[in-house]
Amino acid sequence: MQGNIVLIGFMGTGKSTIGRELSKMLSYPLIDTDHAIAKKAGKSIPKIFAEDGEEAFRKMETDLLEELLEKEGNIIATGGGIVGSERNRNILRRLGYVVWLAASPEEILDRTSRNNNRPLLNNEDPSGTILRLLAERSPLYSEASHLNIETDQLCFDEICNGIIESARYHYGTK
Ligand code: S3P
Repeated sequence: MQGNIVLIGFMGTGKSTIGRELSKMLSYPLIDTDHAIAKKAGKSIPKIFAEDGEEAFRKMETDLLEELLEKEGNIIATGGGIVGSERNRNILRRLGYVVWLAASPEEILDRTSRNNNRPLLNNEDPSGTILRLLAERSPLYSEASHLNIETDQLCFDEICNGIIESARYHYGTK
């Protein structure tokens, strides 16, 4: 496959987990933008938000996406807010086949409440925040993606096989 497979979607929709599975199944390296940013910055995402602010984090995301334009044949799992800027949405499409993993607000709340490493949800009303951000971002995920998968009723295998099949079709290798 020339190009990459890029996973976008809200926090807690399984981008990192599905990314790891796809990486194993296809033997493609996995690039997780949150991990790459934390590694470069030498600190965790919550620490970047606390010490440098969200704007600085968003700039790191854009810089990283631009660097990735030189790469092919990777699985790229992204942070949930990466679709916020038009520039990022354009880069995402240029990076390859973009898959939007979606889940219901209930499922997202359940999955994200298992730890507190998401600064945007560390507040009094994570449920309200999820609903607000979902409403804001869903049109952006839709605009940036080639494929949308509603993950609530699917197992990992079904999601991964669906993505691989569709990506092969997209790249004309099937
Ligand atoms: C964010 C999602 C997080 C991480 C940061 C901001 C967001 O990634 O990039 O906390 O704005 O939705 P995950 O989607 O992997 O949780």
